[in-house]
Order: sequence, then C-alpha cells, then structure tokens
Amino acid sequence: MDSLMIEGGRSLQGEVEVSGAKNAVLPIMAATLLTEEPCLIRRAPQLRDVRFMGGILESLGAKVEFSGDSVSIHAGKIRGRGNYDLIRKMRGSVCILGPILSRMGEAEVALPGGCVIGTRPIDLHLKGMQALGASIQIQEGYVRVRADRLVGNQVFLGGRMGPTVLGTANLMMAATLAEGETIIDSAACEPEIVDLAKFLTAMGADITGAGSPTVTIRGVPALHGAEHEVIPDRIEAATFAIAAAATRGDVRINRMKCEHIRAIIDKLREANVQMSVEDDSLLVRGSESVCGTVDVTTQPFAGYPTDAQAQLMTLMTQADGISVITERIFEARFMHVSELLRLGADISIEGTTAIIKGGQTLSGAPVMASDLRASAALVIAGMVAEGQTLINRIYHLDRGYEKIDEKLEQLGGRVTRLHET
Ligand code: EPU
Repeated sequence: MDSLMIEGGRSLQGEVEVSGAKNAVLPIMAATLLTEEPCLIRRAPQLRDVRFMGGILESLGAKVEFSGDSVSIHAGKIRGRGNYDLIRKMRGSVCILGPILSRMGEAEVALPGGCVIGTRPIDLHLKGMQALGASIQIQEGYVRVRADRLVGNQVFLGGRMGPTVLGTANLMMAATLAEGETIIDSAACEPEIVDLAKFLTAMGADITGAGSPTVTIRGVPALHGAEHEVIPDRIEAATFAIAAAATRGDVRINRMKCEHIRAIIDKLREANVQMSVEDDSLLVRGSESVCGTVDVTTQPFAGYPTDAQAQLMTLMTQADGISVITERIFEARFMHVSELLRLGADISIEGTTAIIKGGQTLSGAPVMASDLRASAALVIAGMVAEGQTLINRIYHLDRGYEKIDEKLEQLGGRVTRLHET
C-alpha cells in the first residue's frame, strides 16, 4: 500500500478547487440501475470508492465508462446479483439494494459487517423495504430482499442515532417505481439526499420534500435516462478549510457550496478563524487567526458533521486552551486519537467525548491511517508537525479525497507519495 511522507511546518497558501462529492455520487451511480436507458454523471470524483461502485454495477450487467470526471452508465439489462467481493469491500454499496429490488423484484447483497468506526447496521434500510412489502431473508452473511410488487407506505426511518443517510437514499430509490405514495418521516436531510432526489427527478421520478425530514415519493411506472452534475464535496472543502487554519495559511477554496458547511464555518468562527464567506468559495485567513477553543457535538445535517470531526480535533491541538468534542453519530470514531498522541497531542477520551488540550507542539512520526476521515486528520497533523510524518496505509485517503497529495502540493505543502514496491 502507498504511504505519504509529509514535511511539516509550512503554511498552506493559494487556491484549491473542490471535487465532486463522494457520498453524493455513490447513490447516484446506484440510481442508474433504475432505468434501462443510459445516464451521464458529470463531476464524478476519481476515487477508489467510485471505481469500486463502477465495478459493482458492471458485475450486475451495466456498461460503465469513465472519461475524465464523467461516468456514463447504461444498465440496459441487469441481474439481481453482483460481485460479492466488491460489494463486501465497500459499505456504500448497500445502496444498490433499493434500486435492484425496485427494478428486478429481488436483490441480494453481502450483509455489511462492522467497520473501524462502529457496527454500522442496516436494520433501518430493511425496515423501509419491508414497509413497502418486501420480504427479508438473512442467511450466511447475505441479505435477500424480495417483492412481487412494491406498494407505497408511510415509514418512520429515525433510529437510535437519528436519521440514516444511505437508508433514506435506498428507500427513496425503492419507492420511485412502487405503486402509490411513500412518505418517509425522519428522513436524512443531508445535501447528498437532495442531490440524489434531483437526479431521480431528472429521471422522471416524482419526489417532494428532499432536504426536509419528510420526503414524499409518488411511484411512477418507469424512469428514463438523465444527465446530472454532482454537488461539490462539502467534507473535502471543510478539510481544506481546517488545514488552512491549522497551518495558519491563507487559502481560497473554490467550486464549493458554503451553505453545505454552515455548521463548520460557524465552529471555525467560534474558534476565531478569520474567513470571507461567499456562495461558492471560502477564503480562510489563517495567518490572521489565533485559534481559540470549541465545544462541538456531531449531529445529522444541518449540525456539525461526523465526517469533519477528526479534522477539527487536529485543529484543536493547536488552539489556545481546552476543547471538547463529542461524537454522537458513530460510537467508535476516535481512531485518530491514538495516532495524534504519537505526534505529541494531549487528548483524553471519556466515553464518546474527547478533551483536547491545545497549544501542543506536534512533532513528526510514522502513523497509521485507520479510516478515511482519521487519515485526513493525520494529514493535517503532519502539515502542522515539525519534521517528517509518514502516513502509512493511505489506501483509506484515496477512497475519499481526489488527488489530495497534488492539491496540497499546489498549496505549497511538501507531500510525497511513496509507492509500495
Ligand atoms: N444506523 C442504524 N441502522 C441503520 C442505518 C444506520 O442504526 O439501518 C445508525 C448508524 O450505525 C449510525 C447512524 O445510524 O450510528 C447514522 O448512519 P447513516 O446510516 O446515516 O450512515 P451511512 O448512510 O451508512 C453515510 C456516509 C458516511 C457518513 C454518514 C453520516 C456514505 C457512503 N457514507 O453513511 O460517510 O459518516 O452517512 O453522515 O454516504 C465518510 O465519508 O467518511 C463516511 C463514513
């Protein structure tokens, strides 16, 4: 596996462009299974997870062609079973269940197990499909969903940790071709759900309320091909904003949507990070900022996102005082803490809360990336630390950040990708 060598202690400077959103493009790619006609998705980030999803769709019989940042998908004829190895490797692949069930009347995927950030069940996805009339069978690690016909229903999709993003996506897709009306209560409100609804609507679906807790889908007999441009990746934008603040650099982040990261901008403001906010760009003026502390709890959208929690924790190691970060979405999402400690951070954990004593000088060391966002936190820490930080297993980073090494280099960071020989 490749690793990244970071020469720390340099402020990021300049401009950077955000790529299309990973968590929007994956369900949108899955949605192309709902039609026999070709679809074109633009601004698809060139990421490992996106190629994986392409491979899964191909294994289901679709024709998938990548060309630059576009992907064309033609699911003319599909089968209900794909490549289990690929499906098992990527949790996001669970969102093929809804569209295949809807189109074929039967779908089977490998039941996703736990991952480093928690147990990640799919009970709510299944509850939704059951409410539309599907029968569920779990056997030997696989889940099979079957329905001669799907019929709209009212479904409450809120769980112990709040709404589910991919569960909402799955049910929305399943309901597009169902008979009658489906109402999802306690639906996820994330921008990625709104983007999926926009694509489904372009395909001929009848959906209202996406982006609010109540989404209504009126089933239609068939969907047709469509073109769509994916929204910018809000977590990538936030990661660059936090990296700029942490290195006390001045960075303009372009082709993003500030309205998607209001909670993050609000917390950075609370931490005295100076910023100029426009609709589609954010200028972080880290050189003028003396970072203060924050008290943050992760929440579903429009609250502070769990996917930007680890990065903020790195920033708080540089703050003037003690910060408190509570993780409420995933029970085990503090894998970055032990690695940050190795770089000299002072962090203690009490249950799901991390207490970060700021003002520590970080010094470079070899560290291990454990999941995508933990990796991003370590990259930021490496940029801040004195000396060299070697980040091993950047496989995770490549799943979710397009050309991150090149983008950081462009901003004046010293980042070298070491290829495994
Ligand atoms: N949950 C259940 N039952 C379910 C589904 C979820 O209890 O059936 C729980 C989860 O265990 C978790 C909470 O509900 O505690 C929220 O999980 P959710 O279903 O919303 O997560 P997801 O849809 O599987 C997506 C993103 C994640 C992101 C979360 C939360 C994709 C491919 N993944 O996952 O992204 O953290 O929403 O916003 O869209 C990442 O990009 O690094 C990443 C992990």
